[in-house]
Amino acid sequence: MSKSYDVVVCGSCIMDFISYVPRLPKVGETLHGTRFETGFGGKGANQCVAAARLGSRTAIIGKLGNDSWGNIYYDALRSEGVNLERVEIVDGQTTGIAQINVADNGDNQIVIVAGANNMLQTEDVQKSEHLLSDAKVLICQLETPALATIEALRTFPGVSIMNAAPAMDDIPHELLRYCTVFCVNELEAALITGLEVRTVMQAKNALLKLRDMGCQTVIITLGENGAIFGSKISTTIKHVKPHKVDKVVDTTGAGDAFIGALAHFIARNPTSDLTCCIAAANRVASISVQKRGTQKSYPRFEETGLPTELLSDQGDWECI
Ligand code: RIB
Repeated sequence: MSKSYDVVVCGSCIMDFISYVPRLPKVGETLHGTRFETGFGGKGANQCVAAARLGSRTAIIGKLGNDSWGNIYYDALRSEGVNLERVEIVDGQTTGIAQINVADNGDNQIVIVAGANNMLQTEDVQKSEHLLSDAKVLICQLETPALATIEALRTFPGVSIMNAAPAMDDIPHELLRYCTVFCVNELEAALITGLEVRTVMQAKNALLKLRDMGCQTVIITLGENGAIFGSKISTTIKHVKPHKVDKVVDTTGAGDAFIGALAHFIARNPTSDLTCCIAAANRVASISVQKRGTQKSYPRFEETGLPTELLSDQGDWECI
């Protein structure tokens, strides 16, 4: 059997410390929370686990600290079936941590301290050539150093997805130009382009600007409004509609569920239109927001209700 990977992630592993609160606190305010949980997070590992749960063969290039969290996290990733040969437990570094508040309406706020994730170097990417050379899809984010990410995107021969999160306003242009698909949410799109992005049409303007800045294909996710996408080779911009959910419980990591699922569907359906892959990824993200937590809210393929062969349903999208 071929050892090639469907999805390789170059990115972050972070322990999540999650407080559930009635509402997000104001500046200077102390609130009583109602519940506390730890979870396995980090945008890179979340995206990797989302793809693995759907059935992708996955590997991650990343760093953990040599502390109790690092060892626990390593075992958790192994139990998800992720290839860990390029995950290093780094002496003298703490495992990355995130402090997360989740409000009753599903909104969240997150602060990360990247710790060992900051040690991911260009050489780590170069030493992973055997994983990357025949992988189908590469995913990168911005919780690990940009130089290593640029090296991965520059050298990867397959489809690469750059999820520019958390956003930076002075993003290196190589991150825009070297990827196949540049994917951000509305807040990230606003920060990178300097434009207001509150409506679907404002998102379209931001998408056009990102294309002018050098991106090949751009996806902007819009939460409960679905996603829009467009590419350099066509003037068409499509709005892929969301899957409605009855009750949003926790949106933390829903964007990562979308990205991991998108990578999975692109890897497994190489001839399918991107519209179908985005619609299917929307479905996966909509399932994740109905449960608490990040990785633990991600579905297995059988739980998605999606057909094995992705179908293009005209009702799922419109040109804008
Ligand atoms: O996108 C959600 C993730 O952001 C959390 O799991 C947290 O670790 C931060 O990386």
